[in-house]
Amino acid sequence: MSRSASSKVTPVDLNVPSYVKHQRLIDWVASVAALTRPERVVWCDGSQEEYDRLCEMMVQAGTMRRLDPAKRPNSYLAWSDPSDVARVEDRTFICSEREEDAGPTNNWAAPDEMRDTLGQLFDGSMEGRTMYVVPFSMGPLGSPIAHIGVEVSDSPYVAVNMRIMTRMGRAVFDVLGADGEFVPCVHSVGAPLREGKADVPWPCNDLKYIVHFPETREIWSFGSGYGGNALLGKKCFALRIASTMGRDQGWLAEHMLILGVTSPQGQKYHVAAAFPSACGKTNFAMLIPPQGMNGWKVSTIGDDIAWIKPAADGRLYAINPEAGYFGVAPGTGEKTNPNAMATLKENVIFTNVALTDDGDVWWEGMTDEPPAHLIDWQGQDWTPQIAKETGRKAAHPNARFTVPAQQCPSIDPDWENPRGVAIDAFIFGGRRSTTVPLVTEARNWREGVYMAATMGSETTAAAAGQQGVVRRDPFAMLPFCGYNMSDYFNHWLKLGERLEADGATLPRIYCVNWFRKGPDGKFVWPGYGENMRVLRWILGRLQGEAQGVEQVFGISPSYEDIDWTGLDFSREQFRQVISVDLPAWRDELALHDELFAQLAQRLPADLPRTKTEIEKRLAA
Ligand code: OXD
Ligand code: MN
Repeated sequence: MSRSASSKVTPVDLNVPSYVKHQRLIDWVASVAALTRPERVVWCDGSQEEYDRLCEMMVQAGTMRRLDPAKRPNSYLAWSDPSDVARVEDRTFICSEREEDAGPTNNWAAPDEMRDTLGQLFDGSMEGRTMYVVPFSMGPLGSPIAHIGVEVSDSPYVAVNMRIMTRMGRAVFDVLGADGEFVPCVHSVGAPLREGKADVPWPCNDLKYIVHFPETREIWSFGSGYGGNALLGKKCFALRIASTMGRDQGWLAEHMLILGVTSPQGQKYHVAAAFPSACGKTNFAMLIPPQGMNGWKVSTIGDDIAWIKPAADGRLYAINPEAGYFGVAPGTGEKTNPNAMATLKENVIFTNVALTDDGDVWWEGMTDEPPAHLIDWQGQDWTPQIAKETGRKAAHPNARFTVPAQQCPSIDPDWENPRGVAIDAFIFGGRRSTTVPLVTEARNWREGVYMAATMGSETTAAAAGQQGVVRRDPFAMLPFCGYNMSDYFNHWLKLGERLEADGATLPRIYCVNWFRKGPDGKFVWPGYGENMRVLRWILGRLQGEAQGVEQVFGISPSYEDIDWTGLDFSREQFRQVISVDLPAWRDELALHDELFAQLAQRLPADLPRTKTEIEKRLAA
């Protein structure tokens, strides 16, 4: 794979701007340039002018299409290679020095061997292309909870998406100064230039490597242009690397949305909620309370990732380290998420959605009636009739939008507060058509950690591979925990014990499931805005007002404990979403055993102990 034979020997001009004073950073950029041999190096300043220029350049190259400026101002559509549409978990590696520190749920490779492999892959991988140096802050610039990264990438699509998703540009160097800490991130699409051909779809390589070195806090990503694999601030830094930083420094990096919820009396609470990919985190974060729950208000702080640190007052404070949303388009519409639809009015990069005849975009679920004709995400004619005959979707099921967070009508006034917001409750949810009740409150922190650790969910299109099969997804972090999952459980348990010992009131922990199906195979719970009713019960519990009933694990509401004003939902329907079926739970606990067997080596004893207690209650 080495391209050195054809390489030129003249070192590329690094073009370092005069405002960059950080020699270690400059040396690192020089070393990556020497290895990858780009045609030129461009340092991104994060300006609007630069963004517009790069987008226009991609429009000229065919990588992106400008949407109709009247219908979707300043917005673009990109289509990927059909093989480059999702995260590639089997090509994602955690290269800790010791295999057991990565743990059995991560792909591990020996760091030295991986460095050899990467050395070969990246050798000349940017030949003929521009290398962009993209400085970014995860979290508000200068916040004590924020951290900085620098991504070098040969993809202009990455540079413009990073400008939306992070605080990107020149101001980062002011924070970094001459010697500040940063996480180095190297990305190459790893594709040879297509001589004389437009860059459409975007280039990528069949061989993909998404590699993390937790000890040296480095990220190397090769062969993919897809967001989760290529926008390295997101999953790679803000989750995999940051989770190891949190383990070492006593904080949490979580796959969680953060929302504020205000009661009609003006009391405000903050909730952080973890769901696996493509299970409605963005919808939940932007929820609009339904008819009959007037006076309640939900505000959005983050939709995917939370960094959570204990403060001097003993409470846990969370920030959203991102500055934009990289959300799943299909299923997003005026009925399911009007706030997202309003957010998407302008300044959006759409990826792998369909193009309408009048230069706008469409995806399944955007409207009840599809347009009569579209160009689908693979550039082919699409009509409702073709869809009926072939089953072909207009948009890829994991099609995405990238959009600035501040455009969201429900954005919380504190979303950029450098201190973060104090968390009152954690919610964990999976996609389960059976077994798991609509909502359950853990009796204590340990039971909550047990619930989160044993969470299962049916797989979705956000990751390559089979869809719809139940897999354990502890804390919705299975693909994102940068270290041994057993150590991660222990980190959560110990953090709770420490805060409790200091006299802190810990956030309560809840487990939810919006996805139970009835005998007809249809979802029973209406979901979306109606999830406010569950949120209201949770807040009632925090205030000591709402009742609940004890069950084998935790506490759930009875029919009377939920506010049904404005919704016709029968007792029988409620039974279908809340019931605990004992034989199904015996099977479920056997699956918890499988997870514990896999993680046996460092599993905290608290978890099997909690399981024994649940089993006793089940037997009784
Ligand atoms: C995401 C994911 O893109 O979880 O947020 O896959
Ligand atoms: Mn996610």
